[in-house]
Amino acid sequence: MKITITKNEQEFDTVSAWRIIAQMLEKKNSVIGLSTGQTTINMHRIVSDIYTQYPFDVANITLFNVDELTNLDRSYAGSCYTMILNQIAGPLGIPADNFIMPPTLSDDFEAESILFEKRLAERGGADLQMLGLGSNGHIGINQPGTPFESETWVSPMDPDFEARVRRETQVPPEIVLGGLTRGIKNIMHTRKLILIAKGAHKAEIVKQAILGPVTTDIPASVVQLHPDCEILLDAEAASLI
Ligand code: GLP
Repeated sequence: MKITITKNEQEFDTVSAWRIIAQMLEKKNSVIGLSTGQTTINMHRIVSDIYTQYPFDVANITLFNVDELTNLDRSYAGSCYTMILNQIAGPLGIPADNFIMPPTLSDDFEAESILFEKRLAERGGADLQMLGLGSNGHIGINQPGTPFESETWVSPMDPDFEARVRRETQVPPEIVLGGLTRGIKNIMHTRKLILIAKGAHKAEIVKQAILGPVTTDIPASVVQLHPDCEILLDAEAASLI
């Protein structure tokens, strides 16, 4: 595990954006996994800004997100599809065929999970995953307790996040929200992982995830076992390590 600590949030945003750009320049048909959330908004914006000023070849780049909400319309501004489309896939002009996302509505999410993985595998599998870190240690939407052997599936959501989505969307209570997420096993099969976190509120979970025992109680701790994993933090998120 390599740990990179940036001096502040701005440097974190820039360095993390350049990790994506470097991957795109290094391998022109890279398959790159993203994450949504506060951690990645500026990172995606910087990638988009640099691309707009100095366009480079992204015709064969595939983008996907590590997870997606289920049971509410994809056009909801908080769906991962819409966020990634607006923040980075759209500005870079990634062709629809190369933007791989599971649907948010389906009668058969098990089949959709298999199809999602099949589409990534057809392109040679994921080269890089920019992996966000939930405050309870989740990666993707794999909550504490998820077995490390889990394969892409619909997980129950983080309760705080679910409450926020419900507030924002007025989804009727009888609709069970979930999150289709790459399983921990699938995430671990990515060639390179970069676990990203910024802000003081992530300091404690960063400490547990990278210095504590590898345990399903903290799903992110599994990255300690990955052969090519970088932990990329700002100074605040790194303050307890
Ligand atoms: C959500 C997403 C995760 C993301 C995490 C961190 O739960 N499903 O993929 O990594 O939030 O979010 P934030 O960056 O806002 O802390």
